[in-house]
Amino acid sequence: MLAEAADVEISVDAGQPGHQISPRLYGIFFEDINFAGDGGLNAELVKNGSFEFPDGMMGWSEAKADSAYGSLRIIDEDPAFSANPHYLHITGSAPGEGFGAANGGFRGVGVHIGETYVFSLQARAPDSAHIGLRISIVSAEGRVLAAAKLPKVGANWSEQSAVLQPTETDGKARLVVALTGPGSVDVDLVSLVPEATWKNRPHGLRADLVKKLADLKPSFLRFPGGCIVEGSELQYRYQWKTTIGELPDRRLIINRWNHEFQHRLTPDYFQSFGLGFFEFFQLAEDIGAEPLPILNCGMACQFNSGQLVPLDQLDPYIQDALDLIEFANGPASSTWGAKRAASGHPDPFHMRLLGVGNEQWGPRYFERYKVFAKALKEKHPEIELVTGTGPFPSGERFDFAWQQLRPLKADIVDEHCYAMPDWFLRSATRFDHYDRQGPKVFMGEYAAQSVDICSPDNRNNLRCALAEAAFMTGLERNSDVVAMSSYAPLFGHEEAWQWRPNLIWFDSLKSYATPNYYVQQLFSQNRGDVVLPAEIKDSRPADPPSGRVGVGTLVANAEFKDVQILRDGENILDMTSISDPKTLTNFRGQWEFKSGILRQTDAKATSRLQFGDYGWRNYTLSLKARRLSDSGGIVVIIRNSAGGSYFQWNLGGGENTQFTLQSNLASHSEEKNVVASAAGSIESNRWYDIKVELSGSRIRCYLDGMPVHDVDVAPPELPRLFVAASRDVGSHQIILKVVNPTDVETNADLALDGTRGLGQTAHLTLLHGLSDDDNSLAEPDKIAPTQETLALAGPQIQYKFLPQSLTVMRFDTE
Ligand code: AHR
Repeated sequence: MLAEAADVEISVDAGQPGHQISPRLYGIFFEDINFAGDGGLNAELVKNGSFEFPDGMMGWSEAKADSAYGSLRIIDEDPAFSANPHYLHITGSAPGEGFGAANGGFRGVGVHIGETYVFSLQARAPDSAHIGLRISIVSAEGRVLAAAKLPKVGANWSEQSAVLQPTETDGKARLVVALTGPGSVDVDLVSLVPEATWKNRPHGLRADLVKKLADLKPSFLRFPGGCIVEGSELQYRYQWKTTIGELPDRRLIINRWNHEFQHRLTPDYFQSFGLGFFEFFQLAEDIGAEPLPILNCGMACQFNSGQLVPLDQLDPYIQDALDLIEFANGPASSTWGAKRAASGHPDPFHMRLLGVGNEQWGPRYFERYKVFAKALKEKHPEIELVTGTGPFPSGERFDFAWQQLRPLKADIVDEHCYAMPDWFLRSATRFDHYDRQGPKVFMGEYAAQSVDICSPDNRNNLRCALAEAAFMTGLERNSDVVAMSSYAPLFGHEEAWQWRPNLIWFDSLKSYATPNYYVQQLFSQNRGDVVLPAEIKDSRPADPPSGRVGVGTLVANAEFKDVQILRDGENILDMTSISDPKTLTNFRGQWEFKSGILRQTDAKATSRLQFGDYGWRNYTLSLKARRLSDSGGIVVIIRNSAGGSYFQWNLGGGENTQFTLQSNLASHSEEKNVVASAAGSIESNRWYDIKVELSGSRIRCYLDGMPVHDVDVAPPELPRLFVAASRDVGSHQIILKVVNPTDVETNADLALDGTRGLGQTAHLTLLHGLSDDDNSLAEPDKIAPTQETLALAGPQIQYKFLPQSLTVMRFDTE
């Protein structure tokens, strides 16, 4: 029987191995964002157990049995620990028993039946000779799940502890600390931790979360961020020295993500440093990853205050970096090495990488970087320095950074990108043309966004994961230049996030991996040691231009009505489909639909609302629009692809002198190409007739019946299949990672040239599903890898790559 003709040819030349693949290529990026630290990796279940939040009662509330009453006060006279001066003074009036304080944890105290929890606190009762404390874990409905009576409290501060075993699992339980009778007790450093932490360390890390990190087999662990390195102001920057040593000596600070961000506010976000620099180094060691700490370079977050340390006052910051090297690598007899040893790790941590600044940009950064680099290289030439290019993967800031860093012969340059899936598909070739002799690249933060960054609708769906996989084939192929990479952010608490998407999600009880996680895992576990040349020949005709439509505003409020999509004389838009803007793809703004009018009411918003069918083509969009504000512009969107590319017709905005048609390449706001412009302006409070005709790749725009633009622009041609090939030296296997981000099965002829002793079966791991699918607490494995074998009859193989899939193929050879 004749084999079906293949759409695509993939050839791999195993006889012509290329460069070594960087062993550091796939790592992880940890930042204490989205409650990743306290409430996440730090297994401590009590929030504000030290009462050091500026609102000392935050996280706590009064708890009382039926007839009990009393008062709770935060005071700081004669504290147990000077670094943690505040404590809770509980006074119970007669009968007193049962009065106390309850802690609700991090969106609930999460306890599992069958597990053991260790409770501890500092307490004293100078004025009440016979008083004691009763501890209980109480379910959301008020049932006591576990309880213990502590011994009588003494006159001076001392630690008391108890072991609790809940009778039920509850993610929304509370911890109650109550008096056994009338009188007063001072309490501080209240703690409840599971006994079963990662490696069963007391006050350790949450085991399910660390296991997920270990299972990624990451080559490095970057910590502690992210913008928290910088702090919103310099006084709130991350200072590693206050995060080590005994827990009571660590000083709490406000988390940079406590601030309003994208209209989200998490006022109870602080860092207690139960997870500090020692724990980060230890975690890195546990999971076999190289530590990569990032230090503040004398700049606060440039998205916040942007405060600067004067150049001649950088010494303490540089000293922090030098001391950190000693803390990590120095002998146990050295000043800082001794502190490491005192924490239980006399041997060095073998740190070889250090970041100077996080996501800084502009001349002020490079001035400071140079001072750091000079001092650090003089004393520690063995440490490779990581330096940044700012928040975007192109544009002025980015170009300026590279202009600075190239002549400086920087060791490793950190690039960041959060963009729509199409950007990642298009950028699979990004590094093909980078200078092979220049600095190494660290693709240090990247993630495909399904909609607007941080919107609640921004999902970790398979479409985004596969776009990242496609991009990663380019990282691997170019790993002579791209030495390191990491997805960001790493963790997100389902009920306390500030940013999404994230690689791993969790709540107070459970966690789950995303499709993006599995992509990272499959690449990391199937990296290979040497790149093999691989080529794809795709004979399929290009997809015709198509896409959804939309409307929007440019720093304006506006109204839209009578929206129609005419195809062959028929309106194919069902108006009811746009009558609830909450169900549509929304990029900012305040949208409502009333009496047949779509209205964006925020006069300051630059916004978009997209709707319709990605497959729509050859249609005429017509609508009426009017600007309500005195200035700003109206926007019409066409050819919006599922991967996030679109064309945007701008009427008004800026100086209100030009109409422009621009193509948005699914990237950040700096990267937009104007494909047509014409002189013109709009007036406020006047309805305009707008019409856009799409025929093939031709776009014609009309205003009040008058032609404004007439252009022919083909969509950017995105590859439809991506491949990375490598050889694993130890196992003698050829590894192929093939990404099919399209929704069609792709029949490919695969030629493995130059192989010797090819085995009779290939081992396949598949990640596939529907593009919009994601995982959740309820369905944690909806998208998860599956295994298969493929019988081989020789090096010419025909294989059908599933729609929306990543296929990892391992071939045994001699
Ligand atoms: O990953 C989230 C944030 O994105 C990081 O803190 C920052 O470096 C970037 O802007």
